[in-house]
Amino acid sequence: MARVLTGIQSSGRPHLGNILGAIIPAIMLSKDVQNEAFFFIADLHSFITIKDPKQLIENTKATAAAWLAFGLDTQKNTFYRQSKIPEVCELTWYLNCITPFPMLANAHSFKDKSEKLADVNAGLFIYPVLMASDIIGYNADFVPVGKDQKQHLEMTRDIAISFNHMYGNTFVVPEPIIDERVMTIPGTDGQKMSKSYGNTIDIFLPDKKLRKVIMSIVTDSTRIEAPKNPDADNVFSIYKVLASETKISEMHSKYLAGNYGYGDAKQELFELILRRFQNEREAFNYYISNQQELEKRLQEGEEKARVVIREVLLRVREKLKF
Ligand code: ADP
Ligand code: TRP
Repeated sequence: MARVLTGIQSSGRPHLGNILGAIIPAIMLSKDVQNEAFFFIADLHSFITIKDPKQLIENTKATAAAWLAFGLDTQKNTFYRQSKIPEVCELTWYLNCITPFPMLANAHSFKDKSEKLADVNAGLFIYPVLMASDIIGYNADFVPVGKDQKQHLEMTRDIAISFNHMYGNTFVVPEPIIDERVMTIPGTDGQKMSKSYGNTIDIFLPDKKLRKVIMSIVTDSTRIEAPKNPDADNVFSIYKVLASETKISEMHSKYLAGNYGYGDAKQELFELILRRFQNEREAFNYYISNQQELEKRLQEGEEKARVVIREVLLRVREKLKF
């Protein structure tokens, strides 16, 4: 059995882009009988940017509820909060001390973020080392990530290989799984949907609020009667990633025929989201209002995960004679 592991930052409530681009594909991987998945909420990483504990907890709960709502099987797999297993911080220290400073200083993500963020803290700098500990601390074989995480995975491999070289075989050297085919889901303004652009669709919002978000999708000012170009419109491009072939071609024809307004298309998109995600919306609300159930599922995962990292740490301490 291969161990597939990935971390999910709790930087906000998951949106349609996260769901279609990350949550659904990862849950599919976890269902493969050949795989056993370790999925965790990277709340220690989120603390680098989110300093309000209340907000961090809310985000963590919403993120966990979304994964459970989309059917993550927590019996077969291991689902946990990174911060509840502080052993990962001990491992991070050992790895810090064998990680060359220039490797971290030259990381794209550090260079990029340290120019943009007002708060450039030491956590941001050692981010990739904590990520390496997340992975090699749990003997991961495969790590599904987005393209933006490629360099972090290379660093993880470098760190594992150099530790194994210095102290003898200790860590499993993981392989990244980077699916280049995952489409980029557009946001309400047509750019990539992202929390940082404020253009997200939160499918878990109550009906009225969700409808308001859908109605705010940016369109041009072509009059209702006039024919419209579906391929240049944001409502249609979001509809396309969710609807069936038949429904897509029906809407395509309506745009071309005229007498069909953007408001009509938005209403259809809204109803489609309600229908398509009805079960997940209900399950999400269930977990949000049954915190004990959510907590129980996470704690069970944390017990399983703790056993694994403790065993790895024993190996490391033995090698280092601590
Ligand atoms: P955000 O840009 O909203 O902060 P993250 O960077 O936290 O999102 O992404 C979390 C996961 O969701 C990553 O695996 C990323 O590839 C995926 N993801 C985020 N936005 C999109 C999108 N618009 N389309 C497809 N996948 C996305
Ligand atoms: N850095 C990842 C991201 O921003 C989140 C993450 C933290 C992670 N630790 C990890 C991903 C370990 C995979 C494995 O998306």
